[in-house]
Amino acid sequence: MTETFTVTVEPLGTELTCRADQSVLDACLRNGVWLPHACTHGTCGTCKAEVLDGEVDFGDASPYALVDSDRDDGYALMCVATPKEDIVIEGDVELEEGIEIYPVRDFTGTIAILDEAAPNVKRMVIDLDEPMDFNPGQYVQLNMPDGDDRPYSIASSPSEPSRIELHIKRSEGGAATDGWIFKDLNAGDPISLSGPYGQFFFHPAKDKPLILLGSGTGLAPLKSILRHVAELDDEGEWEHEVVLFHGVATGDDLYEHEWLSEFADDREWFTYQPAVSREEFDGRQGRVPVLLTEDFPRAGGNSAYICGNPAMVEDTMKALMQARLFPRDIYREDFFDSA
Ligand code: FES
Repeated sequence: MTETFTVTVEPLGTELTCRADQSVLDACLRNGVWLPHACTHGTCGTCKAEVLDGEVDFGDASPYALVDSDRDDGYALMCVATPKEDIVIEGDVELEEGIEIYPVRDFTGTIAILDEAAPNVKRMVIDLDEPMDFNPGQYVQLNMPDGDDRPYSIASSPSEPSRIELHIKRSEGGAATDGWIFKDLNAGDPISLSGPYGQFFFHPAKDKPLILLGSGTGLAPLKSILRHVAELDDEGEWEHEVVLFHGVATGDDLYEHEWLSEFADDREWFTYQPAVSREEFDGRQGRVPVLLTEDFPRAGGNSAYICGNPAMVEDTMKALMQARLFPRDIYREDFFDSA
């Protein structure tokens, strides 16, 4: 049997049990203790925390996300660090009003729909055997047959906790996308996953108009937020404008175009701005940060949610700040190619 250790999370002094082969982050999230995290694979550095007492195995931490001086100063990446003995870490944070912490759990389910949203994008709808609570914008990890896992954002609303929708981009030669999801899986197949993960989610306490900015399958978490906001509107609890910019390279990459166009036609508070950057398009052309600057020379007073490849997220972040939106009103999710 695998050895277990006690992890104490300061400043609240919360104690939990972590297996020797389990990441500290996983143990915390499964016990309802919130630690900042994003990629969960040792690359982004979001989960960096100080180990106040005891020793950890640093695991597969990227040398860019955890530099040598971090290690020397007693820091580790909690998503890949495993305990070698009882440890004390710094990190327990309180979330703002209106955000629930939903402990990570394992789920099984059946693929209800697996269809082509675009030539290189699959839409997977999974019927879960048990409902999963999550905040709009969070993601799940699909368990691959080889024991590895891959993160995908949930595109559906939390109001449908037993049926989740994912958007999966094919990565040429990728073991998960090209080899497994695009070739082996079919509707009706069983599937297992864990979740919910991530800190890119809708912040209900920010009672402001929304600017949603996505590239490629970065649309997925934004669609979840959009659906959630539409439900708030149906209940008379939403009174702001929402603009969605969705940037893709070619017209073929523009998925959910019809759904979003109709969604916008039916709602006067919602504007849909598709953007194609690398070919002629019967609509607006250009990258999302450029279109944003054209439409929002001043963006103060909004909340912005950005999701896409790191270059797009970085450029959009800069464009928003140049438009005088404070960083505290900007939420970002960098999508790395999960292959
Ligand atoms: Fe741990 Fe990204 S490095 S969440």
